[in-house]
Amino acid sequence: MVGEALLRTVTTFLAGIVFLVSLSIWFRNLKRNSQLRAVPTVGFSNSILSYLSFLRFNLDGFRMLKEGYEKTKPGLFKIATFRTWMVFSTSPELIEDVRKAPDNVLSRRRPAEEVLQTDYTLNYLNKRDHYQGHVILSQLTRIASTTFEDICEELVLTLDDNIPTTGKEWVEVPALEMTQRVICRVTNRVFVGAPLCRNRDYQALNLNFAINVMKFATVLRLFPDFLKPLVTRTISNLPSQFQREMEFIRPMYEERLAKMEELGDEKWDDGPNDMLMWLMNESKGVEKSLEGVARRMLGVNFAAIHTTSSTMTQVLYRLLANPEYVEPLRREVEAVVAEYGWTTDGMDKLHKIDSFVRETQRLDGLGIVVLVRMALRPFTFSNGITIPAGTYVAAPVGAIHTDEEVYTNPDEFDGFRFARLRESSEGLAGSKHQAGVTSPAHLSFGHGRHACPGRFFAATELKVILARIVTTYDLKLEEGKEIPRDLCFSSGRFPREAKMGEEDMTPCDSGRGTAWKIKST
Ligand code: HEM
Ligand SMILES: *[C@@H]1O[C@H](CO)[C@@H](O)[C@H](O)[C@H]1NC(C)=O
Repeated sequence: MVGEALLRTVTTFLAGIVFLVSLSIWFRNLKRNSQLRAVPTVGFSNSILSYLSFLRFNLDGFRMLKEGYEKTKPGLFKIATFRTWMVFSTSPELIEDVRKAPDNVLSRRRPAEEVLQTDYTLNYLNKRDHYQGHVILSQLTRIASTTFEDICEELVLTLDDNIPTTGKEWVEVPALEMTQRVICRVTNRVFVGAPLCRNRDYQALNLNFAINVMKFATVLRLFPDFLKPLVTRTISNLPSQFQREMEFIRPMYEERLAKMEELGDEKWDDGPNDMLMWLMNESKGVEKSLEGVARRMLGVNFAAIHTTSSTMTQVLYRLLANPEYVEPLRREVEAVVAEYGWTTDGMDKLHKIDSFVRETQRLDGLGIVVLVRMALRPFTFSNGITIPAGTYVAAPVGAIHTDEEVYTNPDEFDGFRFARLRESSEGLAGSKHQAGVTSPAHLSFGHGRHACPGRFFAATELKVILARIVTTYDLKLEEGKEIPRDLCFSSGRFPREAKMGEEDMTPCDSGRGTAWKIKST
């Protein structure tokens, strides 16, 4: 009884807070709305009714953005979000305006802080320091040939573990779960090396951390700032995960630190070359501590694992839906491997594999908005329209990727589209059609200064995994099954496991239905 009364009080209290927050947002919105009159709206522009449009955006965002894009191209349009207006660029020029704007005018951090509640979730010791982006772009992009050998070795082992073929029998494999395990392990071979990358508990920690961050951020967004520290202290399970990550990397961290102290100013020439080492080397101040490095490691895993594994799942789904691609892909890989072996040089020659990955990203990219920025002060686009501080800007990536003025037959999956474009381009121009390369027409990794720093690594990983799979296995969709439709919510788009309900979002829980079968070739 006491429990029930308490629950009621707490619920009322929470409802009250949500109501007050909404009200104050509504008043702010009202003011901004009048300043945004020049920008056409998709949905209702009235502040209260705009919440209905926000609701629609959460459930049917892709079509809503497509509608706005087609009506207003080459201009701007806006839609309501929970807190403010989001203004969309529909032409390459307006996207370039966003790309070029300095961070103190259009901020990349602020939307991330708000959406992911990074101050309370990733909770870096020095919250203003973002050195890991530089580490990823500079170190991870230049994969050394020995590192690539490690990746290939780990890939063979983990595919073997996760695809339990027994020769010529078909076996069912859950695509999403399999790719999550494979990518977590292969990526962590480069982040922390073997044997830690093979530790199931370490893998589960890194996979689940990302999901817990998303969940907790969703809850926390409902609270006003002054209550967030309290809510975090009371219900967040993230601190215990920081603790566990610290315990996992402590032995390596301490051993390396001791060695570095012993060497003093001398260089450690044959020292370890992995993400842990780069983070230890490049961090400053509090970030150099075990705790600082452990949190960054979780943060880097957060950015790297689900993005890549979801994309890999989409790639496999596209292949299963279009089995006629298997043979040509297989032939390409076999020819290249015969000449170059499994090397980075060989990877560069896999134009069809590369194109297949890029085409999948074009149509199935993980989000329907990219280049999300917040105006910290009034910002004027090159078409003369000014938006007030506090407004969000973004690019409607799904609509751009399916615009017939940008791509011929835009709705058709054409796996070798980019390979053909590459072959027909003169000289070095062909390289702009490679997976990992961004432009205003290809925004899966964002574009410009803040484009995903892990994109070249991700492209390499996706390519080598696809190349391995087509040359090692036969695969087919299980009879009578279809590729599951993406799970779309708000600005996100995620592949699902076949035949699954809510629990799809939880990685690493076996025993769910599967839609495809696989056997050794
Ligand atoms: C297919 C896989 C991936 C996709 C689709 C993807 C996509 C993106 C996108 C769209 C952004 C935001 C860009 C913007 O705001 O304009 C981003 C940022 C980021 N990504 Fe990725 N990413 C992938 C893989 C990775 C990997 C493997 C890593 C690390 C090893 C990584 C690390 C990061 C980091 C650290 C940021 C933040 C950059 C910043 O704040 O400036 N990502 N990613
Ligand atoms: C890390 O720093 C040490 C000391 O400056 C250096 O000798 C070593 O080569 C660096 N390692 C990597 C992987 O950058």
